[in-house]
Amino acid sequence: MTENDFVPKTLSSDVSDGLVTWKAPSNIALVKYWGKLPDQIPANASVSFTLQVSATTTTLTYRKLEKESKDFSFDIFLDDKPKPDFAPKIQTFLSRIEKYLPFLKTYHLEIRTTNSFPHSSGIASSASGMAALALCLMEIEKAKNPEITKLYFDRKASFLARLGSGSACRSIDGELVQWGKHKGLNSGTDLYGIPYPHKTHPVFTDYQDTILLVHQGQKQVSSTVGHALMEGHIYADQRFRQAAHNLERLKQIFEEGDLKSFIEVVESEALTLHAMMMTSIPYFVLMKPNTLRIIEHIWEFRKRTGLHPCFTLDAGANVHLLYPNEERKEILAFIKDELLDFCEEGKYIEDQIGQGATKLA
Ligand code: PMV
Repeated sequence: MTENDFVPKTLSSDVSDGLVTWKAPSNIALVKYWGKLPDQIPANASVSFTLQVSATTTTLTYRKLEKESKDFSFDIFLDDKPKPDFAPKIQTFLSRIEKYLPFLKTYHLEIRTTNSFPHSSGIASSASGMAALALCLMEIEKAKNPEITKLYFDRKASFLARLGSGSACRSIDGELVQWGKHKGLNSGTDLYGIPYPHKTHPVFTDYQDTILLVHQGQKQVSSTVGHALMEGHIYADQRFRQAAHNLERLKQIFEEGDLKSFIEVVESEALTLHAMMMTSIPYFVLMKPNTLRIIEHIWEFRKRTGLHPCFTLDAGANVHLLYPNEERKEILAFIKDELLDFCEEGKYIEDQIGQGATKLA
């Protein structure tokens, strides 16, 4: 498919109003997307686990205006309180997607959103938030053209979410999602996320993710700034080649359920993401001392027990601890006994791989 396939051809004009609610999950990348080209095209393909507990629920109420407004007409609420500081981001998003939803200025949009994870827990809500909003907006298109298929609906929701925040395109489907064209694997597209198209071993279907909240609060570097740091970065080309190679390695790892190699690829990806930020100009250290303490404990625990917890990181200090469900009991005990001291106020989120977004109303 191309961008033009997402420009609607026929739309009924007699849809006056409606209310829809979608819940979209967050996702955690195993092979990271870091660096982009214009129009939110990723510099390399990535793959992620869709989460289940960490999610955004958005209710969109739309009402036809008497006449098309000059600018977008919307109100945005977080936890039922007006959130004017979200408006510029929504405004940019709506203007990027207007070409694909050409009716947007003919409605007033009331957007009410809540996150399942605590606000400013250091967990980015942009992926789940943009995905939930894109799904809600797609419901207007569906009301105007009930003929569209579920496949088109999901792909276009992912395509639109990508224009809001790149990684948001991986928050529509479950359980493993690939975004970006990979020539060697002959799979994926840069335009939207797709359910991982290669074989996966059953061990990955109920993988666990305990998110250890090391540092709550605003991220030090926004992802917009972070991606821009890859432009002209001295290691950029090598990094993009490494990501492609890691995705290729994961194909066999996913197929065979090879946990030892899985750990190697996933931890290396996390550390490389941070290495890119430490070696850019300007440079940043986004880990905290407790991030490193947790990593050391994980390595030591793995050596001692032969079990398979592994870490990954976002562009921040929190640690995602990934492990197979069959090791849950031992690893949860390890987390409680040895890791919670390193979390701010002892906070963590017990999450796991999820099935993707759901429509609630
Ligand atoms: O979607 P963005 O622009 O916020 O970028 C996300 C980048 C990482 O979370 C660090 C990696 C990824 O692939 O999700």
